[in-house]
Amino acid sequence: MTDRELMSRAREASLNSYSPYSRFAVGAALECEDGTIYTGCNIENAALGDTICAERTACVKAVSEGKRSFRRIAIYADSENWCTPCGSCRQFLAEFSPEMEVLCAKAGGRYVSYKLSELLPCNFNF
Ligand code: THU
Repeated sequence: MTDRELMSRAREASLNSYSPYSRFAVGAALECEDGTIYTGCNIENAALGDTICAERTACVKAVSEGKRSFRRIAIYADSENWCTPCGSCRQFLAEFSPEMEVLCAKAGGRYVSYKLSELLPCNFNF
């Protein structure tokens, strides 16, 4: 799957976003080492701190299906700025694949690419 195809899966996933509070819809598409794809969207809650980001939704879906090794994640939001993952999502993904690639889009679908280790050097581990 090309980067563009993966980003288009992320964009599709953003359509399922439940974000009545922020009105900021995010979608993610996570590619595992074996090529399978798990998508996710952000899911907000009236207890705002209980909100789950799109990236973590996708990661939780993958890990709960037995996948622990990831190649790429595409993140899409119809936003003015590149939709880079929040700190918690960086740490969450780094638990499994600190060297994975992270594609961050903005409105229109243009994207920038990082290594997760660039976005989160020295991730916590013990
Ligand atoms: N959000 C994500 O889903 N992923 C990110 O990388 C950044 C933020 C969500 C959380 C919340 O529902 C909304 O975007 C605004 O912060």
